[in-house]
Amino acid sequence: MTADKYRILLTGSKGQVGKAILNILSSNPLFDCFHFDRSQMDISREDQIKNIIKDIKPHYFINTAAYTAVDAAESDAENCMVINGHACGWIAEALKKQNGRLIHFSSDYVYHSYTGFPLKESDVTRPAGVYAKSKLLGENLIREAGIPAMILRTSWVCSPDGKNFLNTILRLSEQRPTLQIVNDQYGAPAFASDIAHETHRILEAHAKGLISDHEFNDTYNFTSHGCITWYDFAVKICQLAGRTVEITPIPSKSYPTPAKRPYWSVMSLNKIKTKLNARPPHWLEALKACLREKSL
Ligand SMILES: NC(=O)c1ccc[n+]([C@@H]2O[C@H](COP(=O)([O-])OP(=O)(O)OC[C@H]3O[C@@H](n4cnc5c(N)ncnc54)[C@H](OP(=O)(O)O)[C@@H]3O)[C@@H](O)[C@H]2O)c1
Repeated sequence: MTADKYRILLTGSKGQVGKAILNILSSNPLFDCFHFDRSQMDISREDQIKNIIKDIKPHYFINTAAYTAVDAAESDAENCMVINGHACGWIAEALKKQNGRLIHFSSDYVYHSYTGFPLKESDVTRPAGVYAKSKLLGENLIREAGIPAMILRTSWVCSPDGKNFLNTILRLSEQRPTLQIVNDQYGAPAFASDIAHETHRILEAHAKGLISDHEFNDTYNFTSHGCITWYDFAVKICQLAGRTVEITPIPSKSYPTPAKRPYWSVMSLNKIKTKLNARPPHWLEALKACLREKSL
């Protein structure tokens, strides 16, 4: 595939990852980025997906749009399954007709296995809860369509201005004298700017023929390096931001939520590092960079 300029169709352009990707793509003259927020392209509408793909004929479709309210999903299953699941199948089928490629984002929630070892892409998936099942359905429908597609599984996404754990802790630490944070769920945050940087690097390398179709067309984990609990994360956020709130570690059973959280979300990064030459940052360096961006 060679072109003077590659047409990119980006969904979820106002979300954490979508916004960060748009920011990078729009300054690369190799790409023409057609970006859509939910009001401009609702991926729960198959007709909109078909028509927009037919009009734009994208070389690459980057799907960051998703139903990410994991607790709300438990009582809104149909919507969540359509947006995270069936819509992925519609996108893939419409792309097939245009010979388009797909970059799609999935989640640590598909694993739900407490192995104690970093989770590999080939590990068994045991999604628990509506959101987790919807994300796996999306992955499977994309694979079934048989188009060239890269699926990036990420976790604990943070960005300077998004709706995320980092900003919740910064807000609560100003409002309350003490916080109780779960200390038995392990994982690593992924910062939207790092996800965007790697997505852009891989996309550009693939467009230039430096990454083969075979390497592109696969599932990869991508997050920061490290293994922490939400408690560890909260403590470090407050320490670096100069917040004096007292933080108490608690077990998950003391903080019941409608959706089950995975206890173990630590993902192996070996595949994306060896096959695609990715260089994920350590979570602490990435956190510091994000706080600098927030001027904290
Ligand atoms: N956030 C996390 O911690 C996390 C963890 C693991 C994996 N992921 C995955 O990473 C990807 C990016 O997540 P993110 O953190 O950037 O999520 P986000 O900030 O919640 O952004 C998702 C975007 O999708 C949009 N959207 C929702 N329903 C839509 C629809 N029917 N049609 C079009 N757009 C729709 C939302 O618009 P509105 O705001 O208007 O609803 C929002 O702008 C997703 O695939 C997510 O599942 C996220």
